Amino acid sequence: MTLRIPLIAGNWKMNGRKAESLDLARAVAAGVTDRCELLVCPPAILIPPVAEALAGSAVAVGAQDCHFEAAGAHTGDISAAMLADAGCSHVIVGHSERRADHGEDDSLVCAKTTAAHAAGLVAIVCIGETLEERDAGRTLQRISAQLDGSLPDVVTSDNTVIAYEPVWAIGSGRTPTPEDVAEVHAHIRGRVAARYGVGVADVMRILYGGSMKPSNAGTLLEIDGVDGGLIGGGSLNAKDFLAIAMSCP
Ligand code: PGA
Repeated sequence: MTLRIPLIAGNWKMNGRKAESLDLARAVAAGVTDRCELLVCPPAILIPPVAEALAGSAVAVGAQDCHFEAAGAHTGDISAAMLADAGCSHVIVGHSERRADHGEDDSLVCAKTTAAHAAGLVAIVCIGETLEERDAGRTLQRISAQLDGSLPDVVTSDNTVIAYEPVWAIGSGRTPTPEDVAEVHAHIRGRVAARYGVGVADVMRILYGGSMKPSNAGTLLEIDGVDGGLIGGGSLNAKDFLAIAMSCP
């Protein structure tokens, strides 16, 4: 029996208007499967209506980012507590687009993870190498550094999910080979075991993200150590997103 229920998480990024997003959310809720847990992460402004539309369904709602402080003078930012209040159970932190667009580094991601935990949210902590790092043979080194820097000292399998997203695979249509994914996931789990204990590592969910779609989801999701997916483009269409969910072994 597997210890880890797969999580299929949709990262809608900066896409959608209210009406179409509510249609998408409702269509996802109508296709819930017992193969996995389902999560959608709308743009922040759409969280309240999407959470309302999904209330009572088995689809959870998450955010794409949070501030590292609980409250204060931070114009334009949103705290983890506000997200929880709006109906979120999860928040993505350290996505490579946030790291690139907003200069977020590992220590900031670590502070955001702590803030998410303090607000009772599950943090989905994203890590992944660039193409340059992969080509230079530095993938595992980079993954280790990001893990060490982005995770706080206290982490449980209940409050943290790790998403391995090779930067070069995001939105590109390209994916690593199953062997490469398996190697990185095993490396991540080993690193989690060394820092937090085998008991935590055994039940910690490690997602794969980057160009996952219905046509490759089966191959990616059956890789040993892959416990679900973080899906961008493929989550904007309910049929595709649910087809990915149905690909969970
Ligand atoms: P993609 O994005 O599925 O469009 O490649 C994944 C992500 O960035 O989380």
